Amino acid sequence: MSSDECNHIIQSAIALKTAHKEGRQARVFDGKVLGMIFEKSSTRTRVSFEAGMAQLGGSALFLSSNDLQMGRDEPVEDTARVISRMVDLIMIRTFAHDKIERFAKYSKVPVINALTDDYHPCQLLADIQTYVEHRGSIQGQTVAWIGDGNNVCHSWINAAITLDFKLNIACPEGYEPNATLVAEAGDRVTLTRNPVEAVAGAQLVTTDVYASMGQESEAKARLEQFSGFQVNHQLMSYAADDALFMHCLPAHRNEEVSEELLEDESISVVWDEAENRLHAQKALMIFLLSANS
Ligand code: CP
Ligand code: NVA
Repeated sequence: MSSDECNHIIQSAIALKTAHKEGRQARVFDGKVLGMIFEKSSTRTRVSFEAGMAQLGGSALFLSSNDLQMGRDEPVEDTARVISRMVDLIMIRTFAHDKIERFAKYSKVPVINALTDDYHPCQLLADIQTYVEHRGSIQGQTVAWIGDGNNVCHSWINAAITLDFKLNIACPEGYEPNATLVAEAGDRVTLTRNPVEAVAGAQLVTTDVYASMGQESEAKARLEQFSGFQVNHQLMSYAADDALFMHCLPAHRNEEVSEELLEDESISVVWDEAENRLHAQKALMIFLLSANS
């Protein structure tokens, strides 16, 4: 996605949010169907896609891997060719990123990444929308990512490249984000072991769980390895005066973020961030369906 396309989607999301709150939302998806394939759990992603589609006059099919023949080894390529002849848009949450790439290659309709082990781009649309609503353009600003160099972190790197902001990443040794992606970002992204250094002067501080879905067996070990990487009021005191805190959620209170900070709505905008998944994805779906029509 180009920066113009991304900014267009963000502005469209903000307008859709106002329209939704004022009860004047057009049923632009009349007769349209979204297929939603989930191979991992979800609260926000499922509810926001399903509610968003319904609010715009369309409908959504929840397809868990337990119900699909794909869960009994029907090839991804066959599943893509079949489902995409029946629906207008597909979203997938899965493990290996390669699976969604293969699916998209064989799909006749747009395929949305609703989280893989490598990326979580829909989260970033909502996060950028949230920043823009609270503080204006993110271009040229500094964001600090504290913790695991995971899927959400990778999407933050992609956003820094597309939208031209600085991203300071602090992670323990062995938990760095993908080195090729970091190199691609050039001097927009810096890596450090020191959370205070990463946060210094940042306008936005963000984090995520220490162990992502699929890494449950590592949770205990990670808790030790990430000691010193909690985001709390003390760490926020090194950020810019009006710095915001974000978390994609679900959060583990008093692990990667202190309960006190998460609940401090003068700094923490996590509930707006979660709500914006609804508006940002509506804007994304409108963008994809108009490009595909
Ligand atoms: N942030 C996010 O994607 O949440 P869910 O896992 O609940 O969808
Ligand atoms: N990194 C987390 C994000 C959840 C929305 C995970 O993949 O589990």
